[in-house]
Amino acid sequence: MHMNWFCDKLFLVGDYMRLRNVKNKEEILKACPYLISDPCQFLGKWHEKFGNSNPIYVEIGMGKGKFIVQNALRYPEINFIGIEKFDNVLARALPMIPEGIPNLYIIRMDAIKISSVFSHEIKRIYLNFSDPWPKVRHHLRRLSSKVFLEQYDFVFSEGGEIYMRTDNQELYIYSLESFSQYGYQLEQISFDLHHDILPNFITTEYEDKFIHKGLPIYSVVAKRSVKSNENILHL
Ligand SMILES: C[S@@+](CC[C@H](N)C(=O)[O-])C[C@H]1O[C@@H](n2cnc3c(N)ncnc32)[C@H](O)[C@@H]1O
Repeated sequence: MHMNWFCDKLFLVGDYMRLRNVKNKEEILKACPYLISDPCQFLGKWHEKFGNSNPIYVEIGMGKGKFIVQNALRYPEINFIGIEKFDNVLARALPMIPEGIPNLYIIRMDAIKISSVFSHEIKRIYLNFSDPWPKVRHHLRRLSSKVFLEQYDFVFSEGGEIYMRTDNQELYIYSLESFSQYGYQLEQISFDLHHDILPNFITTEYEDKFIHKGLPIYSVVAKRSVKSNENILHL
């Protein structure tokens, strides 16, 4: 009984959480016009799907979606796609999205499969407060690990870029090394983003919590100048 109670509530991993089960999640997901149920069919055709040639920006691990939705509303000349792995997270996020945003889609999937959904059509990837996977044996699950960077090569159009923000210093240092070793150029490195930023900055839900606690936010823009798309393992 104690175990059931635990599983049904918030499951906290440090400051990172998994939401409890949402009972009617399948209906909620099905009813959402933004959710693409079979994203693989648009491989290489996302500009057609949007009906324009505007740049495509993707947030991996969109969580409750504040960041991606507010960006889509503010920047109609950019196409935004949010990726999220967990149904329970999406079932809470999707009903909150206002209707009629033409430059927004949402995909439910594990980002390790991202190269089966996109082909050289993404300009920017956002990694906002990604799960830190603190144990060394789990480091390759990090969204900034070499395993994921290999997949991103296949989805980036010319000159892809990763915008990363985190509260986790260890993940941040790991990611700077990982990006750099892989051949990304690092720009806009900040160990305290919210003392460096311009006004009107769009924050994420997690970011708001950390700012409220007075914690520094680490950020970097990693730019992929040299493309090497061969020998990619499709998962
Ligand atoms: C700590 S939360 C951050 C959410 C949001 N970006 C924010 O800053 O408020 C990380 C999110 O990434 C999602 N996630 C983690 N690994 C993922 C993966 N491999 N593919 C897609 N989503 C993933 C998790 O389910 C979770 O919702």
